[in-house]
Amino acid sequence: MSKKTYYITTPIYYPSDKLHIGHSYTTVAADTMARYKKLRGYDVMFLTGTDEHGQKIEKKAKENGTTPKKYVDNIVDWVKDLWKVMDISYDRFIRTTDDNHIQTVQKIFKTLYEKGDIYKSYYEGWYCTPCESFYTERQLKDGKCPDCGRPVEKVREEAYFFKLSKYQDKLIEYIEKHPDFIQPQSRQNEMINNFLKPGLEDLCVSRTSFDWGVPVEFDKGHIVYVWIDALSNYISALGFGSLDDTEYQKYWPADVHLMGKEIVRFHTIIWPAILMALDLPLPKQIFGHGWLVIDGEKMSKSKGNVVDPKLLVNRYGSDAIRYFLMREIAFGQDGNFTNEALIQRINSDLANDLGNLVSRTVAMVIKYCDGRLSNERARTEFDEEIETMAVETVKKVEDAMEQLFFSHALVEIWHLVRRTNKYIDETTPWILAKDSDSKDKLMNVLYHLVENLRIISILIEPFMPQTPSLMREQLGITQSQCLTWESTRTWGCLKDVIVQKGDIIFPRIDMEKELESLKKTQNLGKKQESDDIVGEEDGLISIDDFEKVELKVGEVLECNKVKGADKLLVSKIKIGNEIRQIVSGIARHYSPEQMIGKKVIVVTNLKPVKLRGVLSEGMILAASDTHDHLVLGTIDKDIESGSSVK
Ligand code: ME8
Ligand code: MG
Repeated sequence: MSKKTYYITTPIYYPSDKLHIGHSYTTVAADTMARYKKLRGYDVMFLTGTDEHGQKIEKKAKENGTTPKKYVDNIVDWVKDLWKVMDISYDRFIRTTDDNHIQTVQKIFKTLYEKGDIYKSYYEGWYCTPCESFYTERQLKDGKCPDCGRPVEKVREEAYFFKLSKYQDKLIEYIEKHPDFIQPQSRQNEMINNFLKPGLEDLCVSRTSFDWGVPVEFDKGHIVYVWIDALSNYISALGFGSLDDTEYQKYWPADVHLMGKEIVRFHTIIWPAILMALDLPLPKQIFGHGWLVIDGEKMSKSKGNVVDPKLLVNRYGSDAIRYFLMREIAFGQDGNFTNEALIQRINSDLANDLGNLVSRTVAMVIKYCDGRLSNERARTEFDEEIETMAVETVKKVEDAMEQLFFSHALVEIWHLVRRTNKYIDETTPWILAKDSDSKDKLMNVLYHLVENLRIISILIEPFMPQTPSLMREQLGITQSQCLTWESTRTWGCLKDVIVQKGDIIFPRIDMEKELESLKKTQNLGKKQESDDIVGEEDGLISIDDFEKVELKVGEVLECNKVKGADKLLVSKIKIGNEIRQIVSGIARHYSPEQMIGKKVIVVTNLKPVKLRGVLSEGMILAASDTHDHLVLGTIDKDIESGSSVK
């Protein structure tokens, strides 16, 4: 039997600027769902990509003295790297500048024209460039853009129109017959009452006032205007309209299109109408989530209140950020983003609840059982409750996931984490350890901890792709039949385990210091100059920027492993007359013995930091690739330590 398919999409993002944590939010949610369905055995297609045409991008490129394609290429590379560092496991990345997309859009446009659903007329109205949106006179608010409040320009030009009005009744009927089509429910009411019932106007679908877009094949002065181009990505990515449309046949209709609430209207009115006109099935669900807001305002580039996701991932790791996004904000509602809330979650849920449970368990198995455990049956009165709870949690998580209630799923998982921590206090292994008659009971208790952690490690997998293997490594969970989703349904899958001590999976963060340091790096509230951004995009900095970094030659005098940290070495380095202590993450590539006597290049004017409690006063330069190779940066010939590197 062939596997059931699951097709999930994010919107395609505008690569007019770098993305912010609000964009990551949609993508992390989609990735979590895609991973969940993969774990459940579905054949998943997870699509994301970029929406690269339009006047705004054309303008931006011009301002930066480059072509639109070069401009977006740069940002798209940045976006792909962002998804890589956030562990986004998309199956396909579509760019609307891809040839096959362009051809499909042209075909769709032509088909609609031939069917009479697209006709030529004149467009007269108002255009807001930053929003890339046209408005009719009555849509304006005080003569300004109803979305952003900025001035609009009057335009009149020859244009093609899509007969949206023709589909009004069919759309209302469809939405009413399919109560799951628009989620959450509140958005369905909004669409019907605010947009469909008052009446739809035909939609302008071509422009002649700019060039950066898909040309209308049969009328070359026109380019396809935004929504037909953008929305078609969901089927062009599957080869619809091309010679090979097997993926379209296999995955369409989509199970869910995920997006923020401001574009639900386009997806629940324009997109279904286009599909109806093409006689194609409609997606099963449109899910509109809320916004990440800062001080009550939507996070967005134009407001200058954006948070850089790469900066956060660098500091806390992608699992922590993903956890925060999915846990803190009820999916569907708006949620406030604050650094305090993020650090609070990391400290309480990750470091304290989960991290402690893992390290307490590992420490006790090592201390009391020499690191070895088997499935013992000398039961305690507390066992049944946590066994039942573990199995019931799985069911609750499944129910929550089916409705995309990500935060509910995590709440349930963390109930189990906390309950398992409480079980330690109830069973008091340290007391059992004192009595040699209680050996079997002790083993049984510790087994319960490991087994619950096994189930927890599977449940969190869709949310946190890295943490489960870190947990399993320490807990000695290797049996593959105990790592499947199905294996969570029966308690007691693990046979023998050998645990080993490892790094703390989520170190606690010093809130006060961290907030101070974040404040300096984030520049929240300061509007960014668009010029800046492109400078960075090109990877260019000025000589002044470079000169801020002080590089010197140092000689390694002593070098040791850092206790409790597999990856770190601590070196004493002579730099001229001075001796500095520097911690580096190179232990998997160099042994302490290999380091001694080496001349390395050191950054000497970094603020000192403590890594795993060990002071580090600088950084040793090293090169690394994506295949886990790392080599030290060295000097070509011998030169005195303390020499400057420029
Ligand atoms: O709209 N909080 O692209 P986009 C939560 N190209 N989500 C946010 C957010 C915030 N502060 N800011 C943005 C487009 N998003 C079109 C889509 S689809 C055929 C074409 C989310 O780059 C937003 O809600 O402006 C949307 O889901 C996504 O980022 C893309 O935004
Ligand atoms: Mg937007």
